[in-house]
Amino acid sequence: MSNNDALLEVENLCVEFGDRRGAVRAVDRISFEVEPGRTLGIVGESGCGKSTTSLAIMGLLPRPAGRITAGAIRLSGTELAGLPENRMRRIRGAEMSMIFQEPMTALNPVYTIGAQMSAVVRRHAGLSRRAARRRALEMLERVGIPLAQRRLAEYPHELSGGMRQRVMIAMALSCRPRLLIADEPTTALDVTTQAQVLEQIKALQRDFDTAVVLITHDLGVVAETCDEVVVMYCGRMVERAPVEALFSAPRHRYTEGLIQAIPKIRTRRLTRLPVVPGSVPDLSELPPGCCFAARCAHADTHCLRRQPALERMGPSRVACFHPADAEPVR
Ligand SMILES: Nc1ncnc2c1ncn2[C@@H]1O[C@H](COP(=O)(O)OP(=O)(O)OP(=O)(O)O)[C@@H](O)[C@H]1O
Ligand SMILES: [Mg+2]
Repeated sequence: MSNNDALLEVENLCVEFGDRRGAVRAVDRISFEVEPGRTLGIVGESGCGKSTTSLAIMGLLPRPAGRITAGAIRLSGTELAGLPENRMRRIRGAEMSMIFQEPMTALNPVYTIGAQMSAVVRRHAGLSRRAARRRALEMLERVGIPLAQRRLAEYPHELSGGMRQRVMIAMALSCRPRLLIADEPTTALDVTTQAQVLEQIKALQRDFDTAVVLITHDLGVVAETCDEVVVMYCGRMVERAPVEALFSAPRHRYTEGLIQAIPKIRTRRLTRLPVVPGSVPDLSELPPGCCFAARCAHADTHCLRRQPALERMGPSRVACFHPADAEPVR
């Protein structure tokens, strides 16, 4: 199945972590596509494989423990899985970039903000020293950093968490990548800054027609920014749906649980994934059947024995033997 309009195509991606003593499959047959200018959200509880999926796409899995064991990752039709590191390095930064869960991962403490940003655009966009400096300044201003000129001479530790996150967004977008992967870009920020940072990502996305993969725990953010959503559980994709369908008619019982828990939360804006009772099984001891069965009120012996395949249901794709009806949730 190939979608010619898609910028990014991930097909049956599997990632394992392990050594001689054994391996766990942290990502198990994940598939999705993202078109230019569109946003795909990935949600799911801690440890379900969201960051691993994004690191696999970026070619940044920790070695030697992590490796892609099956599947394809295509960027504009070019297969990325298995590409030599020197080619990946050229594609990273120039064609795709990532905002990491923890900003200090991406920033080098011993160089000034200006030096780091200039180095990135000189290397990937081939700009002269002066043009690179100008681009760095322009990007800092665009992400709403006050006194941007002065910030160029500062080191990462001199900035607040929110400012660092903005610098990372500026840096990630400074080469105008066609694909941006944002892994919890706003989790560490206060609500006001969160909203500003998301607004800036959206504005830059509109201007450059960037495709975005947004990983978040925040269903409010998903509702506001995503076109399509992938729900992950134990490394598997349990549901994938257009954003309207996901919220109005969740089909997988896990998704249904997440959505039904929303009204119970008093705060106007959700900041965390709502809690579904029970806990996620350990990846090294996954049950033979549906991995959500132990927490599911609808599970029967069939669910415990067999793994449901992902099937098309209306606009959604769902891996569940007893999916919820397509009636709107009240
Ligand atoms: N370097 C590693 N070595 C071994 N196992 C790893 C490594 N990194 C991740 N894992 C395993 O892979 C699984 C998925 O982790 P991942 O970081 O992708 O989850 P996540 O969905 O991003 O979680 P969170 O919401 O907490 O960020 C986890 O069970 C974790 O134990
Ligand atoms: Mg993560």
